[in-house]
Amino acid sequence: MTAQNIQISEEAVLNALRQVIDPDLKKDVVSLGMIKDLRIEGAKVAFRFVLTTPACPVKDQLEGQAREAVTAVPGVGEVDIRMDAAVPRQRTVADKKSVAGVGNIIAVTSGKGGVGKSTVSVNLACALAKSGARVGLVDCDVYGPNVPIMLGLSSQPQALGNQIVPLEAYGLKVMSMGFLAEGDTPLIWRGPMLHGVIQQFLYQVAWGELDYLIADLPPGTGDVQLSLIQSVPLTGGIVVTTPQDVALSDARKGIMMFKQVNVNVLGIVENMSFFSCPHCGENTDIFSSGGGEKTSQQYQVPFLGRIPLETAIREGGDRGRPVVITAPEGAAGKAFSAISEQLAAQISTTVLASEPTVKLEI
Ligand SMILES: Nc1ncnc2c1ncn2[C@@H]1O[C@H](COP(=O)(O)OP(=O)(O)O)[C@@H](O)[C@H]1O
Ligand SMILES: [Mg+2]
Repeated sequence: MTAQNIQISEEAVLNALRQVIDPDLKKDVVSLGMIKDLRIEGAKVAFRFVLTTPACPVKDQLEGQAREAVTAVPGVGEVDIRMDAAVPRQRTVADKKSVAGVGNIIAVTSGKGGVGKSTVSVNLACALAKSGARVGLVDCDVYGPNVPIMLGLSSQPQALGNQIVPLEAYGLKVMSMGFLAEGDTPLIWRGPMLHGVIQQFLYQVAWGELDYLIADLPPGTGDVQLSLIQSVPLTGGIVVTTPQDVALSDARKGIMMFKQVNVNVLGIVENMSFFSCPHCGENTDIFSSGGGEKTSQQYQVPFLGRIPLETAIREGGDRGRPVVITAPEGAAGKAFSAISEQLAAQISTTVLASEPTVKLEI
């Protein structure tokens, strides 16, 4: 009998695909409900492979394994796989109010200022958007909103009914106090006013449908952090740190803050990890090394990766052109992309682990 006239059953294809295991979710892709629209026409097998994020770090690996597994089924001549993604949404929590249309809210924090929270927020948001996800960035640093400059945004957002339309840059929807406040006017805020602003930024902005809303927070563990944590169900938080001891003891405070209020720590990002000399190419550990990873082990939270200290990152921030957009193949661009993938995988794992069953309903 030739390959052409063997009748291929759906069951045989699905059984073959059961050998493919998602390394993060630790289940086979059929049980996870990732195989959709399976069609068998003669020797041709076609299906949609729906991952939990378009920024999946093992997308190519999973596609390759699926293709190999199905090709090995007797009678299969051609395999047509359409890679797709549906990001799972953080489930609702009784005493918190979700933001309509927004699947996951991720808070970016650090114990102190200047470690690169805004830089990390902007570049991770851009990297996620580039992968095909629907992404928003809310600049919760009402005292020193840096996001507008880092994204080159200077216009004022428009109102639509009683909602504010976010500005857009590099495929992101963005809201910042910097769009509303005048120039360099110093801002003094009391707790209730801050709470009001955070509420408006969450619930009165026309975010539309988003997979990820990244919240760039001011440094420390103050009113803004509390307001955000008390208002919305967060999928989790990221702690940004630099590798030296002082910064790390601040990072521990960030981790403890999240743990105390039962927010998942999605991971630590170590920024300014080493200096890559643009002249000689040598890497120097200006702020010592390995601290972020050690802290992550100590507190049993994931380590998402390290970002070099590079002039291009600072220049990109000042010019409103994030390095992950202008130099995606450089060391910094690659580091941000890889971290965005690790983050997306952590989000999927966290959300699915909080569901009663792991099966995706897509
Ligand atoms: N990895 C890096 N390499 C070079 N400059 C950086 C890096 N990360 C941040 N910076 C610069 O350091 C300054 C502080 O970063 P920022 O993101 O505003 O910190 P934070 O939001 O934590 O206060 C900015 O000028 C930024 O461009
Ligand atoms: Mg900042």
